[in-house]
Amino acid sequence: MHRTLGICYYPEHWPEDQWTDDAARMVAAGLSWVRIGEFAWARMEAVPGTLTWDWLDRAIDVLGTAGLKVVLGTPTATPPRWMLDKYPDMLAVDAAGRARKFGSRRHYDFSHPGYRDECRRIARLMGERYGANPYVAAWQIDNEYDCHDTTLSYSDAARRGFQDWLAQRYQSPAALNRAWGNVFWSMDYDSFDQIDLPNLTVTEPNPAHVLAFRRYSSDQVVAFNKVQADELRRHTSAPLIHNYMGRITTFDHWKVGADLDIASWDSYPIGFLSDRLEGTAKEKATFLRQGHPDMQAFHHDLYRAVGKGRLWVMEQQPGPVNWAPYNPAPLPGMARLWAWEAFAHGAETVCYFRWRQAPFAQEQNHAGLLRPDSTPAPALAECRQVADEIAGLPDVGTATAQAALVFDYASAWAWDTQPQGADFDAFRLAFAAYRALRRAGLNIDILPPDCADLSGYKLVLAPGLMKISDPLRAALARFDGIALIGPRSDTKTDELSIPTPLGPDLPDTDLSVVLTESIPPDAKIKLQGGGIFRHWFEHLEGTAPVHLSTKSGQPAIMGGDHLRYLAGWPDDATFDAIIGGLCDALDLPSFQLAEGLRIRDTATHRFVFNYAPKAQAWGGTIVPAAGVHWEAL
Ligand code: GAL
Repeated sequence: MHRTLGICYYPEHWPEDQWTDDAARMVAAGLSWVRIGEFAWARMEAVPGTLTWDWLDRAIDVLGTAGLKVVLGTPTATPPRWMLDKYPDMLAVDAAGRARKFGSRRHYDFSHPGYRDECRRIARLMGERYGANPYVAAWQIDNEYDCHDTTLSYSDAARRGFQDWLAQRYQSPAALNRAWGNVFWSMDYDSFDQIDLPNLTVTEPNPAHVLAFRRYSSDQVVAFNKVQADELRRHTSAPLIHNYMGRITTFDHWKVGADLDIASWDSYPIGFLSDRLEGTAKEKATFLRQGHPDMQAFHHDLYRAVGKGRLWVMEQQPGPVNWAPYNPAPLPGMARLWAWEAFAHGAETVCYFRWRQAPFAQEQNHAGLLRPDSTPAPALAECRQVADEIAGLPDVGTATAQAALVFDYASAWAWDTQPQGADFDAFRLAFAAYRALRRAGLNIDILPPDCADLSGYKLVLAPGLMKISDPLRAALARFDGIALIGPRSDTKTDELSIPTPLGPDLPDTDLSVVLTESIPPDAKIKLQGGGIFRHWFEHLEGTAPVHLSTKSGQPAIMGGDHLRYLAGWPDDATFDAIIGGLCDALDLPSFQLAEGLRIRDTATHRFVFNYAPKAQAWGGTIVPAAGVHWEAL
């Protein structure tokens, strides 16, 4: 597949006489795609009902005739100020009951029916006008769902929508009371309209109530997206895309992805390291200007699956960002490395964010490919280099993976709701498992929780799955590799209660979790032969064979030849030893990659990425800091 580069551009930010030169320079930089429009509602419709398309017509024309393909964004993440006059109750409300104000972006409530209609309307108008435009080759719907914590809203619209949703799910208040266990603390309801949103309660609300609200809120994101997708499909056959974020678990991306053609995401490696990842001070210092060596790969693999095989990076960090606590510049070479890593993981297109640094407003300290004065910023040359390299390496086909990781959003809501340990976090656990697979040099696929087919994989990890779905359980029953389930997997019902008989319910495997413990970060549970569990430990009982024990003689890994349960949260070295042992048992070639060195196989090449701030050897090759090396397989 031919890989391409693109850019995020805001024609409305610049004088029109600059557009032609910008477009020519984009082409000269090796860019093929330009994404526009996603924040421009106030320029499209300054006055309600009066649409001003001429500037956008001209922008698309200038970019298109220069040879660029346009990704056109629907502007629904930035409703104009008049929208608020029309719908004063359209703002999302935080958990403390305060409406979030106008003056930045994403000031809308996913549940608000009036605003949803407005989004349908603008999507229809844009579809009618540009759906058949030959230069508009893809569409982006909205921008970064949940950015700035916007999935959950405790508004009146959300309360009404939630009550409706509950009535449909449970049919009767009595059924809801039973499902939630409302007899506990006399929380029974007589009618659905008595049920409020689960904020501002005296102490913690019923976890089943919270989980239901999380499911409802996720469903609103899915529905909001689908309204626009359905509308656009009436007018265009171009692919529909959303740009997801890193480490966002508040809505079910699998479900949003089902209504779209391509999954893209916005990759800000250095911002994420500083803002969104746990890590030791040493790790954060080592990767300060590169980002965490596994964070981008995880999301490439996740979103490749969410996109049913079609992945883009819609926004790629080019230099310092503005929004993290600290915003260092990337090491020279990283803007190239990040793009190649995305391609090696199957991305069709990588778009840098943004073309020119804006000298005004919130993101004036955020780098682009050009400085605010239009002179080249460092990433421009790296972008050109990648474009030249793509021309010399035209076919980077995605390879199959030997290992898979099951990732479930509802489990993240469940463990947010009842973490049981202050540092228990579903993403953190899944990422720890992913990192271990990647340090072993394996190609990894990320799978949805209702995955029904594991054939083709040798090693499957399923950490932190609240409940194993029926299709997955059936696939596990047929699986002939090794699946390591847990910790904290299949030990709850769908309503976040404890099942009896106790879980996990693994086919032909007699074991149960009889007690769970969380432990503080500096405490550990020692394992026989070395290694430790941190954060979390489950006591297992049953007749299944024990493969690994704690020092005190409790089972640490238990199960049969194919299905095993991991009773705790291994630290990195212990995870490496466990994965290494499983690879050996499976005859699966694996590595113990040096810190910061990562590999990814494509159909034809092995790519080596050096995230370390110093040169490292790979076989006979020295890969410089921030270097990329590829060799034919
Ligand atoms: C993304 C967002 C962009 C821009 C960028 C800055 O989250 O989609 O619009 O704000 O961050 O890094």
